[in-house]
Amino acid sequence: MHVKLYSSLLVVFLTGAVWTQSIRTMDDEDPYDWSYYNFECPQECFCPPSFPNALYCDNKELKEIPPIPPRIRYLYLQNNLIETVTEKAFVNATQLKWINLNKNKITSSGIEKGVFSNLKSLLYLFLEDNELSEVPAPLPTSLEQLRLARNKITTVPEGVFSNMENLTMLDLHQNKLMDSTFSSTTFQGLNSLMQLNIAQNSLTQMPPILPANVMQLFLDNNSIEAIPENYFDTMIKLIFLRLNNNKLTDEGLPTKVFNISSLLDLQLSYNALTRIPAISVHLEHLHLDNNKINSVNGTQICPIPIPGDYVYERNLPRLRYLRLDGNEIKPPIPFDLMLCFRLLQAVVI
Ligand SMILES: *[C@@H]1O[C@H](CO)[C@@H](O)[C@H](O)[C@H]1NC(C)=O
Ligand SMILES: *[C@@H]1O[C@H](CO)[C@@H](O)[C@H](O)[C@H]1NC(C)=O
Ligand SMILES: *[C@@H]1O[C@H](CO)[C@@H](O)[C@H](O)[C@H]1NC(C)=O
Ligand SMILES: *[C@@H]1O[C@H](CO)[C@@H](O)[C@H](O)[C@H]1NC(C)=O
Ligand SMILES: *[C@@H]1O[C@H](CO)[C@@H](O)[C@H](O)[C@H]1NC(C)=O
Repeated sequence: MHVKLYSSLLVVFLTGAVWTQSIRTMDDEDPYDWSYYNFECPQECFCPPSFPNALYCDNKELKEIPPIPPRIRYLYLQNNLIETVTEKAFVNATQLKWINLNKNKITSSGIEKGVFSNLKSLLYLFLEDNELSEVPAPLPTSLEQLRLARNKITTVPEGVFSNMENLTMLDLHQNKLMDSTFSSTTFQGLNSLMQLNIAQNSLTQMPPILPANVMQLFLDNNSIEAIPENYFDTMIKLIFLRLNNNKLTDEGLPTKVFNISSLLDLQLSYNALTRIPAISVHLEHLHLDNNKINSVNGTQICPIPIPGDYVYERNLPRLRYLRLDGNEIKPPIPFDLMLCFRLLQAVVI
């Protein structure tokens, strides 16, 4: 009995060994596997054998982009001294999905026309911290993320975004965009856009009509004075709205402009408001610090009539966090404010 069991185990073990060996032999003869260990790699760069689709050329003081081999999907070129993006370097790199060119010295005139639009599989293009004066155009319509923060962009070429049906994230913060940079059609066609960051630019007005799927809109550190009536009516998915450090006044805000039922987080710090604007019952976070608000009337700002003693929690206003510091309000916190917002966890006053 014992011997039999032992020998059958041995058989299994041996079979396993033979199987392993036969795989090895096949591998040695497989031309694909040969190239796997001997693929071309630009000498300035690092090609990790375990990740053959990636090319690491970051932090190398490169002045030029080396020729990109055809197998590459992920290309890391950040933190160099690159000034130009030439078609020649990318001619064979048709599988590229991801290009990181952050922190270089690329100018708009240094980008050869069509170099990006030829890359039909490109999903992510990062060009932050460069010297661009324009949004590069044309761009591939496959893009999902376009990051252009901290450049000197003043110009958005007409139609550059018009067929980008898959773009979910557009980051243009810390540039030199002005109201006149945009036309009424600039953002049309961005049907998948969820996040738009135009913070730290030179806008005095809200950007023109934005796509309906935007969930996060960041406009901090501009000089926006007013919001048009019904501006947010089409943005039925808006969740986060940041307008800190602008020049908003009570006169610039239509009465119900922030009564947006999808909105959970509204930031209006460092503006010139003297009154608390009307909010929706669904809002959870409200930042109103560093304005000129001098009084709080809980009855007036309550989005519903002050709830009575026996009310279902689901019917209560959702506000949990309220910042009112840096205004002209003197404690104590008015009692009707607490009666209205029963779910409040923190009030900073
Ligand atoms: C592109 O591929 C062709 C054909 O394999 C080759 O001759 C050429 O040198 C390659 N160009 C670059 C920039 O890699
Ligand atoms: C957008 O994404 C879908 C689904 O991944 C894809 O089928 C379509 O071709 C993409 N559109 C463009 C313009 O690349
Ligand atoms: C706005 O500017 C202030 C003051 O310069 C700075 O502290 C803050 O980080 C900036 N915020 C954004 C989102 O740009
Ligand atoms: C806010 O909008 C809701 C419907 O979306 C409405 O029922 C409510 O009366 C509005 N509140 C104010 C203060 O206008
Ligand atoms: C707050 O507003 C309500 C309704 O407008 C008013 O009846 C009440 O007197 C106000 N409370 C204070 C303390 O001013």
